[in-house]
Amino acid sequence: MAKARTLFFCTECGNEAPRWQGQCPACQAWNTLVEQPAQAARRAEAASPPARSGGGGVPTRLRDVAGAERQRWHTGLDEFDFVLGGGIVPGSVVLVGGEPGIGKSTILLQVAACLEAAGYPTLYASGEESALQVKLRADRVGWAAGEVTLLAETELETILLRAAERAPQVLLVDSIQAVYTPDLEGAPGNVGQVRECAARFQRFAKQTGTAVFLVGHVTKGGGIAGPKTLEHIVDTVLYFEGAGGLDNRVLRATKNRFGGVDEIGVFRMSAEGLVPVANPSELFLGERASPASGTAVVATMEGTRPLLVEVQALATKAAYGAPQRVSTGFDPKRLALLLAVLEKRAGMVFGQLDVFLNVVGGLRLVETAGDAAIAVALVSSVLDRAVPGDAVFIGELGLGGEIRPVGQVERRLGEAARMGFHTGYLAPRARPKQLPSGLAVVGTGDVRSLIDRVFG
Ligand code: TYD
Ligand code: MG
Repeated sequence: MAKARTLFFCTECGNEAPRWQGQCPACQAWNTLVEQPAQAARRAEAASPPARSGGGGVPTRLRDVAGAERQRWHTGLDEFDFVLGGGIVPGSVVLVGGEPGIGKSTILLQVAACLEAAGYPTLYASGEESALQVKLRADRVGWAAGEVTLLAETELETILLRAAERAPQVLLVDSIQAVYTPDLEGAPGNVGQVRECAARFQRFAKQTGTAVFLVGHVTKGGGIAGPKTLEHIVDTVLYFEGAGGLDNRVLRATKNRFGGVDEIGVFRMSAEGLVPVANPSELFLGERASPASGTAVVATMEGTRPLLVEVQALATKAAYGAPQRVSTGFDPKRLALLLAVLEKRAGMVFGQLDVFLNVVGGLRLVETAGDAAIAVALVSSVLDRAVPGDAVFIGELGLGGEIRPVGQVERRLGEAARMGFHTGYLAPRARPKQLPSGLAVVGTGDVRSLIDRVFG
């Protein structure tokens, strides 16, 4: 019999190593390598039934692999299906990550309820909460949740056994950190446990065609259960994010083997669970009753979806010491760059000013398409003159002060027109052939002419 191969892996970053070392070669952390017996995994593999299509250790021609036509199960929760790329893919494993209390258990219970209502049997394995606690949540989110089958269990083997017996089409596990296997040493939530359990769920999903959803808590560092280790194992990673104190929740696909990444779904946490937001632009436009100085609107893209977002800037005389630059929802380095460009190319001096920048609604603005709006908001605050309330800005700012075109201008302008905006400022070259009705565009090639056009 072959000698059992022993693998070591880092409990910090999940890196695998063939032998023990004091320092992890990948993340340089000390004393983090632990042993993982590989036999357990292989034993399970040997005992498991052959895969449904292809596989089984037998080479198969691709055209003979059954089930190639990608079928999807629709939950009926449209925002959720959209983020997944058009529904649940059978046999896929989806990780739903987020901070504690953000609403991961709520959304999965709602998904389970919707699936039951749509005729897909589900099994909800709860390792964190008792049956009664889940029942109380079910009462809040509505009638259909009563049909969901609950399994209050934390041991991996039992969950897989029950899942094999009941053969649900969708298995939901809340959370992966609460599940453990006695094959491995270490407490539940330990990186080794989490990795092994996730890998076993992945194998189960592929062998049976069951779709598996795993809840994963985000650790303080921002990673899910031992930075990034889980993200490699699963097919799709959805992050559930919120904005401090607000009820807005954004579900974002950061990895998707079966769809686009960066697609978002927007929800609002209500007393009766999560409610999809049909018109997300409304949510991120803030309270725009009367235009105040320092605010401007950008038409940004979230995945394939255009979204109007308001940015607010406040530039005030620095009280003492070095002026502050505080930015919420926007990269502070890019803010510094925009300030430098405004100073050098448009003669706006920020040297003695504290600068605060905020993206309304708790969204993170990552696209450079927001540069023009941020520049205008900054200038508006310095001049203390309001930007016209019906103007939207689309463009990247170059170091030379030039406004650069960005992609998907038609969709951005379409969303702006839909939301009642009348003027779009963009790079002259970005002007689309066809304009949505009710909207005019102003082409400005550099930041100085942009400021002149807006503030006269
Ligand atoms: P939960 O789904 O338990 O979060 P997670 O699983 O990510 O830790 O959601 C917890 C929060 O949501 C809690 O503060 C209560 C709130 N909530 C509502 O506001 N309305 C509801 O209908 C439900 C079920 C929860
Ligand atoms: Mg929970």
